[in-house]
Amino acid sequence: MLSVNFNPFPILSTQRLILREVKEGDVEEIFFLRSDKRILQHLDREPAKTLDEVLAFIKKINEQQRNNDCILWGISLKEENKLIGTLGFWNMKKEHYRAEIGYVLHPDHQRKGIMNEALAKVLEYGFVIMKLHSVEANVNPDNAASINLLLKNKFIREGNFKENYFFNGNFFDSAIYSLITANQ
Ligand SMILES: CC(C)(COP(=O)(O)OP(=O)(O)OC[C@H]1O[C@@H](n2cnc3c(N)ncnc32)[C@H](O)[C@@H]1OP(=O)(O)O)[C@@H](O)C(=O)NCCC(=O)NCCS
Repeated sequence: MLSVNFNPFPILSTQRLILREVKEGDVEEIFFLRSDKRILQHLDREPAKTLDEVLAFIKKINEQQRNNDCILWGISLKEENKLIGTLGFWNMKKEHYRAEIGYVLHPDHQRKGIMNEALAKVLEYGFVIMKLHSVEANVNPDNAASINLLLKNKFIREGNFKENYFFNGNFFDSAIYSLITANQ
């Protein structure tokens, strides 16, 4: 069984970015990331409506992190502390050494290679430090940005579930991508 330890929180850095713990003081930036229509376009979930709801989300994530059940990094540019995105591992299947990856980035910072830079670092952490064997991504098949990002990082499309996801009166397909440690 996979055994991970996120305490103390592992701060990571790349050429342009700091990947750090999301704190209650980040509530406004996280509210934006969880409510902006452009970000949510292919996420097929309700937008956040209040700061209180987002504060509860941050507290829940922090608690799950303390219990080593998930990890969410906030992304900030090195020159400022403000969060511009998040990425992390959740839905961990420790018995299978597998976790799901998720990420969002503020539209003002998209298409500059930022998530590619953050994802490469987090995958390295996942495979080398956490000792994951595989990482999964569950994507709306219309989400070209996310799919191209995954392909660029050597993820392989393993399946397509037909209309297995219901949101807002519609059934959506889910595309499943994965990366196995040996293929990294
Ligand atoms: C998916 C997302 C995180 C990509 O972040 P990003 O920093 O803009 O991506 P990058 O600039 O690092 O791009 C990496 C690769 O992804 C692909 N890509 C990124 N944005 C794209 C777009 N709008 N359309 C098509 N391909 C895109 C490209 O292949 C790109 O490589 P290239 O620049 O060499 O062509 C961002 O679009 C986002 O936050 N989307 C909304 C939230 C979301 O859908 N999350 C994923 C849920 S599964």
